[in-house]
Order: sequence, then C-alpha cells, then structure tokens
Amino acid sequence: MAMQNKARLPCTSSFLVLLWLLRPALGVPDPAQREQLMLQEASMQTGGRMTLTVAEQKLDARLHRLKEQEMNNIPFPPAVHFFKAKPLIQQSEVFKLLHRMPKGGALHIHSMSLVSVDWLVKNVTYRPHCYICFTWDNSVRFVFSERQPFPRWDCFYWQLLQTLRDRTGDPHAFDLSLVQQLTLFTDDPEGKYPNQDVVWEKFEKSFIAAAGLISHAPVLRDYLYQGLEELHQDNIQYLELRSGLSRTYELDGSIHDKLWTLRTFQQVSNKFKLDHPEFFGARIIISVHRALGVSEVKAAVKEAIELQREFPEVVAGFDLVGREDSGRSLWYFREALSLPAELGVTLPFFFHAGETDDEGTDVDQNILDALLFNTTRIGHGFALPHHPIAKELSRRRNVAVELCPISNQVLRLVSDLRNHPAATLMSEGHPLVISSDDPSLFGSSGLSYDFYQAFVGIGGLRANLGTLKELVLNSIRFSSLSAQQKETSQKMWQKKWDVFISACS
Ligand SMILES: *[C@@H]1O[C@H](CO)[C@@H](O)[C@H](O)[C@H]1NC(C)=O
Ligand SMILES: *[C@@H]1O[C@H](CO)[C@@H](O)[C@H](O)[C@H]1NC(C)=O
Ligand SMILES: [Zn+2]
Repeated sequence: MAMQNKARLPCTSSFLVLLWLLRPALGVPDPAQREQLMLQEASMQTGGRMTLTVAEQKLDARLHRLKEQEMNNIPFPPAVHFFKAKPLIQQSEVFKLLHRMPKGGALHIHSMSLVSVDWLVKNVTYRPHCYICFTWDNSVRFVFSERQPFPRWDCFYWQLLQTLRDRTGDPHAFDLSLVQQLTLFTDDPEGKYPNQDVVWEKFEKSFIAAAGLISHAPVLRDYLYQGLEELHQDNIQYLELRSGLSRTYELDGSIHDKLWTLRTFQQVSNKFKLDHPEFFGARIIISVHRALGVSEVKAAVKEAIELQREFPEVVAGFDLVGREDSGRSLWYFREALSLPAELGVTLPFFFHAGETDDEGTDVDQNILDALLFNTTRIGHGFALPHHPIAKELSRRRNVAVELCPISNQVLRLVSDLRNHPAATLMSEGHPLVISSDDPSLFGSSGLSYDFYQAFVGIGGLRANLGTLKELVLNSIRFSSLSAQQKETSQKMWQKKWDVFISACS
C-alpha cells in the first residue's frame, strides 16, 4: 500500500529537492512506514489494544516518567537477585502505585507459603504447647502437643519452644534463626544457592518445617484468615490456592480428614467475605506431589473428583506439584490423568508445566502434554516460548500462562529478569496472569513485587497502564469462576479501579 501511494505522488524536481533535504541519506527507510510498523507492533503487546480514559492516560504518563527514571538506577532492581532488590523495590514510586492498584485474583499461590513467615514466628511459635526439634540435617520440626511428643524417625529430642527461647537469653536472635529455617532468605543468595539442586533442597526443607505449625487445626483456621488478610492488604480481591489438603491435628494428637480442611477453608473464606464485602472469594486447586506413583495419583484424582462433587464452590480442580526436573512427567501419569475423561466427569486441570530450562527432556514435554490433557491454565510455562506448537495451542484455546517472575529468579531459572522468556509472550499479547507462587518463602507478599518485576523488568518501558489493566482483567477472565461470577467480580473490581485511577492520576 505504501509503495503505491508513493508512486502516485507528483514527481517534480522541487519535490525531489524537498525529499533530498528531508532525508539524511539516500536509502533511509520510509519514516511513515516505520511509524506504522511500530504502532502495529505496540498494538500486539499485552494491553496494546486497550483504550484508556483521559484519567487513565494521565496515570499512564506518570507511570512512564517514573519508570524512565527508575531505569537509570544502579543497581536496577529486576537485574539483581530479589533478596537484594527487595529494599530497593520498596522505595520505588512505581511499586507504591502497583501496591495501591486493585489487582483482581492471585491464581498461583501454594497453601504452605501463603502467610508471611513473620506472622508464623511472632504469632504461631509463641502459642503454648509448641515443641521444636532439630533434625540431623540442620532443619527443624514443630508440633503442638499437650504432652511431651514421642521421638520420631526424623526427630529424636523435642523441647518446649518457649523454654528453649527463654534459655537462649536472646529471643530476637532466636526468632531470626527460626525465620531462616522457614524461608530461603539469605544475604548471599548466589553463594549459598549455587545451582537449582541446592536451592530446591532448601525450598523443600522449609516446607516440611512449616508444615508442623500450619497443620495444627486451630492454627490453620487463623493462618487462612491471615493469608486472605495479607492479600487484601495488597489490594487483591480473589484467591485460587493450590493445596494438598494435608491432614490437620489437634493438641491431643487426633487427626482431621480432608473434608474437615475443605469445610474449614470454606468457613474461613465466607467469614472473610462477610468482614470484607469487596473480596470475591477463594477456591482450592487440589495438588498432589509428582514424586508419587501412578496408582497413588489415580487414587488422588478419584478423590479430587469426589471432593469437587461435595464442595463444588470450593474445589476448582487438580494439579501436580513439586520440582518438575526431578519429578515425574505428566505423560508418566497419563493413565491417572485420563480418568476423568474416561469416567465422563469434568475435573479441570491447572498443571504446573515447563518450569524448566532443560530443553528437549521428558520434563520439557510437560507443556504440550498439559495442553493435550486440556489444562485450564499453565503454571509457569517458562519453557513455552520455545515450543511453537504448544504456544499456538495455548493462545488459540485461551489457556493462560501463570507468570511468577520472582519464583523463577529465586529458583534459578533466570537471573536478570529483563531476560525472562515471558518478555516474548508479553510482546505478543499471549494470555498471561501474574502470580507469586510461594511469597512467604521468597520474602515477598501478595502480588505487588511480582507485578513490579513483570511491569518494569520483563515488560520494560514498552509496558504501560493498558498492560497492567489487561493483566489484572485476565486474572478474572482466566479464573475458575463461573461466567456469572466473573461478571459480578469484574464490576466490583471496576469500582475499585475507578477509585484508584482518580486518586492516582
Ligand atoms: C495471633 O493471631 C490471632 C488470630 O489472628 C490473634 O487472635 C492473636 O491475638 C495473635 N497472638 C499473638 C501472640 O500475636
Ligand atoms: C480434551 O478435550 C477434547 C475436546 O473437548 C476431548 O475430545 C478430549 O477427550 C479431552 N481430553 C482429555 C484427556 O480430557
Ligand atoms: Zn507453583
């Protein structure tokens, strides 16, 4: 088109002279065409076709100016490890705005790392009857018990935590050492975690340590409420929590089943909604570990089908969790995962897939297999950009990728977040949502830190308020809520968004 237009222009000598003057050199590409291509490309990115109101445009301009300033900062937070970047991000004006922004749903968070470790240490470990034990591999275990707990295979000597804390004479230092046990935080992340194996080992140890605290029945109730409270404080309105529904125990050692956990979750989220009417709710994605065998996963799938039948409002679906690189592939579990289709029932899948940088392995294949098993979303999808067929399927079927930037950095898939492969997905407007995976273990909370990394690091200067708005709307659109619930939730979100825009633009 552009060529034809040019051919029709009058070709007088004065026009040629004008052209000669305008162009620095012969052979320079047509600026108008260049401009058009740039606009075309910009319209393809996440939020690229979003039309902004006048007030939104004002805030967008402000964000752009602030971002430009921050990009000159040395060190640039997305380029350094999150443990070092966190205090810098907290100072950022962009971050402060992202914190205030209503962010819709958090669709990828695990139940064992929902609540800040500060709360676990300062609140839970100060409760009476809490026992602690140090294992041979320098980890800890906790248990609440009305009498001295019996020795276990992993724990021989249990001490009353309060007695031990008092005896150390420095409760502050003691509490800090507990925080160390329950998070990955360190001043020297590169030195302490030289590779993925080391960081995953510490990661799994922290989970096991926290489990003894969280699965005490009275703690679990407060823990879930506190988790929703922390999300709410970060301006999040909805949660889909991956949970193994681990058994909970009482002080006398009696055990509750999974139905109890689901019922408790439902009661707590209903109570929270009553106390916070602008919160839409919370659902559970039942998750089992990928280290299990086929028959165990088969049993878990059957159980999930039954639990969903019993708690249709709470149970959203099913997932397999644990490190993909050392765990079993989705294809390995194909007999178990095809059960719902064989039984003629629906059990939506929300598979972690492609959380790997091992290209071409069985694990790398998880991403295509997740799609072949009709997954509703893809957890991480770090490997997606180099699987063109899977990428096309995910896009065509609107199977959103749950992007968790800080998790990928801390677990050592990428170090400088400007190089995160999702930059490609964002520039193409691939269906995406932002989440935080295991916020308490990484020392983050809610979604604001991950939004910062996605907006400033991965998206760069190109990402704008339209990008943010689309990412937030995606978290409702790609949630497991019913069509009608999505509509109501979006209306509730829009009200908060309008308030945010008028306060910040
Ligand atoms: C712990 O949290 C619970 C519920 O959130 C609260 O009632 C209690 O007062 C807190 N206890 C301490 C020691 O902070
Ligand atoms: C996936 O969906 C397709 C189309 O609806 C269906 O034919 C197929 O059986 C499903 N596969 C599984 C494993 O659920
Ligand atoms: Zn995860």
